Amino acid sequence: MEVRQLENTKQVLVAEMNNFLSNLNVMYVKLHNLHWNVTGAGFFEVHVKLEELYTDLTLDLDEVAERILTIGHKPYATMKDYLQFASILEITSSDIKTQEAMKVATEDYIVLVRQAQEVGRLAEEAKDFRTQDLMNTLIAKYEKTLWMLQAYSA
Ligand SMILES: [Fe+2]
Repeated sequence: MEVRQLENTKQVLVAEMNNFLSNLNVMYVKLHNLHWNVTGAGFFEVHVKLEELYTDLTLDLDEVAERILTIGHKPYATMKDYLQFASILEITSSDIKTQEAMKVATEDYIVLVRQAQEVGRLAEEAKDFRTQDLMNTLIAKYEKTLWMLQAYSA
């Protein structure tokens, strides 16, 4: 691969890492929304599980942002940018039943897994194997989360 082509691939990779960081930040807020607004049967376990998920996500988004810095670029760091570049949409702040909350979270974790796979693919193409490692770690974790969310709704 030509040097210039590799540089282009790295630019595309960083852009997608920032899009991923945007989704992680929107998801961090959205999980709080669900944590606060969830109602109904299973409230106690869903309320606690959602707190566990957003607490974990704050570590992940920090890892992704600092990886962007490590490879010489700037992570998005404003809500304005996150809302502009995220594909995960917010929901209104209103009561939501436990089953529905788990369904919403499931759909969003599917987006996170797919996007982490795309970042991982781009990282491999850019020969940035450490970023690929980070994505593999996140993919495995979010896949496990998805299994649990889906088991709850089954
Ligand atoms: Fe809380």
